[in-house]
Amino acid sequence: MTIKIRAIREEETPAWLESLSSSFLEPFDTVKVAEEVRPLWDYSRVWGALEGETIVGTFRSWATELTLPGGERLPGSAVAGVSVRPTHHRRGILTEMVAAEHRAARERGEAVAVLYASEYAIYGRFGYGPSSPCATWTLDASGTRFHPESTGSIEFAKPSTESRDAIRDIFEAWRLGQAGELRRRDFTWDLDLGLRESVWGPTWKGYLYLHRDASGQLDGYVRYRPEEKWTQRQPRNILNVDELHALNDDAYSALWQFLANVDTVATIKAERRRPAERLPWLLTNARAAEPSDMGDGLWVALLDPAQALAARAYEREGLLVLEAIQGAGGGSGREVRHRIALEAGPAGATCKVTDRAPDLTLDLAALGAAYLGGVRLRDAVAARGVDEHRPGALVEADSLFAAADPPWCSTFF
Ligand SMILES: CC(C)(COP(=O)(O)OP(=O)(O)OC[C@H]1O[C@@H](n2cnc3c(N)ncnc32)[C@H](O)[C@@H]1OP(=O)(O)O)[C@@H](O)C(=O)NCCC(=O)NCCS
Repeated sequence: MTIKIRAIREEETPAWLESLSSSFLEPFDTVKVAEEVRPLWDYSRVWGALEGETIVGTFRSWATELTLPGGERLPGSAVAGVSVRPTHHRRGILTEMVAAEHRAARERGEAVAVLYASEYAIYGRFGYGPSSPCATWTLDASGTRFHPESTGSIEFAKPSTESRDAIRDIFEAWRLGQAGELRRRDFTWDLDLGLRESVWGPTWKGYLYLHRDASGQLDGYVRYRPEEKWTQRQPRNILNVDELHALNDDAYSALWQFLANVDTVATIKAERRRPAERLPWLLTNARAAEPSDMGDGLWVALLDPAQALAARAYEREGLLVLEAIQGAGGGSGREVRHRIALEAGPAGATCKVTDRAPDLTLDLAALGAAYLGGVRLRDAVAARGVDEHRPGALVEADSLFAAADPPWCSTFF
């Protein structure tokens, strides 16, 4: 029987979730989840692969905004819920769903698509590259003191609509300056603070603290969940940091210092942080803070490479003609070559489709990986190769795409 890819109807939500649940090996309550998500989802972006009336593949997206080097924010499509039933996998169903979504995203004017990959090998063929590495940081709280003295203050905040709005405002101010960060969906703030029961897993239960600067302005927050641990009848508790965001160095330092000083706590653990945290530099013993579990973080695909490359800032001047190859799975059903002339500089960039001879031919996924400046282009091309038509063009492109401030996406979905 043939497979048809189409946007599903609202009443098909439980069947769509049923299919997702079996492929994800997550036996969640599909009826409860369906009730929760129906008012939240934009059904023109919820794709199903149907065999007759049976849903055998799922894929959905929502509108987001990606902060770029230089501070511009680009409309994008955040992709999730990607699955194909094990009875139907490896027949090209995902490939067709990607094609449908990428076509629709381009029509909506979204120049990039972003996602988190369950398995590394899935998305490169569709033009996605891992763009903003992340790591888990572990701080041995008793193994160090902090250098700077903070001038601000920390206060406890009960999860409430007021404290939710306060941290949302801090996050909103912060994300404007952080390349790689995404606009968050409104309802996630209630989930993050346990103000809304989660139908997907346990409802958040933890503690929220806010930081104020010397003038009383809120400029940072931390959310964490404690984990009880005892060794030799002594408390060695762990604080699992879900989020720590600060608008300035003082708030950043004060929040870490606060965590390290919580009584009975031996270890602070923060997942999905940037690999190059400032934290060790604040410590009298930098070895007390250690990154581990490096991950590939957010994946980015350039759906409209010319628009995407024109929107970011570059730290140096450069003139390059790039030819980016998008494989047959990337959204059109056939291989596409985007040939673009990039004229970049610190004051801005232009990027236009061109028929000039390229300096460099490379895979679109490599460009996606290097796009936010946190992955070296010369490394990213290793996966699928590169053709340098003008000697030195790869080195030039590599230094053009690199950014002094590495990207980081703290928003997981
Ligand atoms: C990942 C998944 C959606 C792939 O769906 P699918 O319909 O089998 O994918 P396709 O048939 O379109 O595959 C296209 C190509 O990708 C490859 N591919 C697909 N999934 C892959 C995987 N997990 N690892 C390596 N390669 C994979 C296929 O082999 C195929 O390659 P080919 O063109 O060289 O033959 C499906 O296996 C699945 O549901 N997995 C479990 C849930 C999951 O991990 N979802 C992703 C969440 S981010």
